Amino acid sequence: MTAEGGMEAVRRVADLRARIAGWRAQGETVGLVPTMGGLHEGHLSLVRASLAAAGRTVVTLFVNPAQFGEGEDFDDYPRDEAADAAMLAELGVHLLFAPEGDEIYPEGHVTRVSVPGIGDCLEGEFRPGFFTGVATMVTKLLIQAMPDLAFFGEKDYQQLRVITRMARDLDIPTEIRGEATVREDDGLALSSRNVYLGPRERGVAPALYRVIGAVAAALAEGAGAAERAAWGTAELVAAGFDRVDYVAVRDALTLEPVETPDRPARVLAAAWLGRTRLIDNVAV
Ligand code: PAF
Repeated sequence: MTAEGGMEAVRRVADLRARIAGWRAQGETVGLVPTMGGLHEGHLSLVRASLAAAGRTVVTLFVNPAQFGEGEDFDDYPRDEAADAAMLAELGVHLLFAPEGDEIYPEGHVTRVSVPGIGDCLEGEFRPGFFTGVATMVTKLLIQAMPDLAFFGEKDYQQLRVITRMARDLDIPTEIRGEATVREDDGLALSSRNVYLGPRERGVAPALYRVIGAVAAALAEGAGAAERAAWGTAELVAAGFDRVDYVAVRDALTLEPVETPDRPARVLAAAWLGRTRLIDNVAV
């Protein structure tokens, strides 16, 4: 596979392992940034964090079919490997791992990793099987690369918690690091799926961050979670969202429901604008 600038790109697990073994022999540390491509500044902030913390950075690019449900956007998901590779090479990434589907899920692949409880609520409830798909994929990547560090965005906060729990439960010796959400000037969290938004929807979308921020501020002043979550749902509809899957206040580590946040908590929400489902979260 052709290299972009100084960055090498490989498609086979064996090649990924060989490159990393070479670095290990030189005493280098390794950071991993798993992505599904469609790269934006949010992904690039993870890459920068890895480049700053580890001697070598590997970015993976694979649109993981196992985490898309029936009728979801697997076929439409933004794919532009050349553009993604150019951005990564420019930043100084050392290796791009961009496997084909059958390298990850060869004929007969049946094993799944599931993280019950923390992976069944919120996104897990509205997208059944989603976190099993994510956890299976990330487990495979961590075993394939055995990095010292792996970087995930807080934008997908529940995913970050599920992966942290999974790595701990399976004794995977990689430190899972979460990095702050990157936002547009109007507050909209960067997401590969924002490209689906039409002009009206793009105008409404920043209300998600505004509303969950207002919920978090009210909770910090002593308001009750259930009442503020109901208020947040109504506000999102009033702002122009077509449907709200949830506005929820959860323990920041376990994601169990909390009524009055007497420990670190998070406000999380998912809502639809046309065919686009947006998620976001803020700390209380
Ligand atoms: O966040 C993502 O892009 C994906 O869920 C991940 C972590 C790369 C696993 O496929």
